[in-house]
This record gives sequence, C-alpha cells and structure tokens, in this order.
Amino acid sequence: MSADSFIAFVERFPEHLADARRLGADVRVSGVDKVVVAGIGGSAISGDLLKIYCSEKAPSLHVHVSRGYDVPAFVDSRTLVFAISYSGNTEETLSAVKSAMRKGAKIVAVTSGGKLKLQAEQLNKAIVEVPEGIQPRAAVPYLFLPLLNVMHNSGLIPDPSSEISAAVDALKASSSSYRERARSLADKMAGRVPIIYSSDRMAGVAYRWKSEFNENAKVHAFSNVFPELNHNELVGYSKLNANYYVVMLEDEADSRRVKERIKLTKEIIGKRDVPSTQIVVKGDYLLTRILSAVHIGDLASVYLAKLTGVDPEPVAIIEDFKKQLGRVPFV
Ligand code: PA5
Repeated sequence: MSADSFIAFVERFPEHLADARRLGADVRVSGVDKVVVAGIGGSAISGDLLKIYCSEKAPSLHVHVSRGYDVPAFVDSRTLVFAISYSGNTEETLSAVKSAMRKGAKIVAVTSGGKLKLQAEQLNKAIVEVPEGIQPRAAVPYLFLPLLNVMHNSGLIPDPSSEISAAVDALKASSSSYRERARSLADKMAGRVPIIYSSDRMAGVAYRWKSEFNENAKVHAFSNVFPELNHNELVGYSKLNANYYVVMLEDEADSRRVKERIKLTKEIIGKRDVPSTQIVVKGDYLLTRILSAVHIGDLASVYLAKLTGVDPEPVAIIEDFKKQLGRVPFV
C-alpha cells in the first residue's frame, strides 16, 4: 500500500467500524466472571478500549489486559480469555493461549489467521476471523467490535448495537472537522516529541495515541494520566531536555477535579514555553467518545508522517526485530 493509500485507509475508520459490527455475532460463552484480553501492540489496544467501555457498562466486571507470555495467576475456569493477534503469529499471544489452557480458561481467538487460528482450531476454541491484509494497528475496528459482540452474547454487557450505530454516525458526521483538527495538530507537532495526557479512565486512549505516533510517524512519544502525572512527571517541566508538544485529552465525562488538573497543568507548562492543545471529546455515549478520540489521534499520526516525509505503513524495525528473535530458540 502506498503512503497515501494507507492514510486514506486510516481516514475510513468510521466505515471500518460499520463493517466490523457483524464480527463475533455468533460467538457466546457461559459461566464467566472475569475477562482477560491477551495480546500485544496494535492487537492489545482493543483490550484497553474494552476496559474503558466496561468501566461504565459492567463496572463490577474485572477486565484485564495481559501483554505478555503468561496470563495472570487469577485466570481460572470462569475467565474468558480473548487471545488477540492480528497476524496470528505473535509468540507472546500464542504462549498466553497455552498458559490460559493450563488454567482451564474459556478462550476466544480473534485473528486474521496464522498460527493462532491453527492453534484455536486444534483446541476446538471459538475463532473470530477478521479481514486480512491490514496493519494490526489499523485493524482496531475489526479487533475491538467483536469483543463487544461476544461480551454481549455472553451476558456480560448490555447490547452495544445502538451505541455502535451512534458512534459510526457521529464519526462520519465529524469526519472533515476531525481531519482538519488532526492536520493542525500534526503541523504543530512536527519536530517535537508528542506527550499525551488523559484521565486515568481514558489511559488506553492516550496510550493508543502514543503508539500511533511511534508506529505511523516513527517518533518517540509518551503518555501519562491525571492525577498521577501531577505527582511526578510535572516536575520534568522544570528542566526541559527536549522539545515537547503536549496533548491533553479531556473526556467530557471526566470529573471536575481532573478537568481542573488539566487546566492548571496546561497553564504551568505554558509558562515554561511548552506548547499544548486540549482536546475535549464530546458525545452522548462513552463509545462515541472513545472512538472519536482514537480516530483523531490516528489521523494526527498519519498526517505527521506525511508532513515529515515518512511512510506511515511499514514498521520494518518491528518486523526485523521479530525475525532476529525468531532465530533464538523459544524454550
Ligand atoms: O502495530 C503493530 O504492527 C504491532 O504493534 C503488532 O500489533 C504487534 O507486533 C503484535 O502483532 P499482532 O498484532 O499481529 O499480534
């Protein structure tokens, strides 16, 4: 895919959401009281988004995102483990499936194929197959929406379908303003290190922004959350060692105190000549706000790539790393 085609693909995020809403509609598990999403990188982010969504829709349900070789010790036969790997060939996720099997967990694989599909077939586990040929991070709609469908079918969350429709409509309606916003952000960020702040609840969205700047724009980027950052990271602005650009993501449902923190932090860092932008994410539903914020960040990262002459799609350094590690026996 050319750089421009990849950017156009990222711009079609709302259409991908509309397309993805059919996935996972036929998968159901029972007897579940905890959920673990096992995955890495562009595949794991769907777990982060699920966790935010469940903070409102199933506040007493324990939802954990596991980015490693083993699922956590608390996993048992009443745990639903989503094993998500877009490629299906990620060693950490394949290993996490084995670890979940040993604990007797209920496993649902979400993948475009690869070894994960084979592994799930051999183990007779449910598989949600997503379209092939997409970069894992750009496949978020296809990896995230099936989680909602399976969770709903399994009685863990209310029916998300009307909220999905509302999110798709809202994102389509705002498409040109989001692009404009993202282009203007990219202009301001060129040559600077992006730092993304959000409330603790929206940490997964801030982390998505950070990862998208890493992988699409090929720059270092960092994320942190309120209130924690006011107790440590804020001090770093006393003695700057790089040219930062700070984005404060404010969810309109953030607490008043968090909003005060955002305002004051912006003022304090502004006095130290650190530029920042506050993005207030609005929408009737949490799902709309999560997906809007993700979409604006995705757009800003690919526009920054374009502006700085970088091809946003390939992540050669990750592929090369995986190849080199693959030569080392996995014992
Ligand atoms: O965005 C990427 O390409 C990476 O972060 C991958 O998602 C990560 O390496 C894991 O691969 P996969 O998503 O195929 O399991």
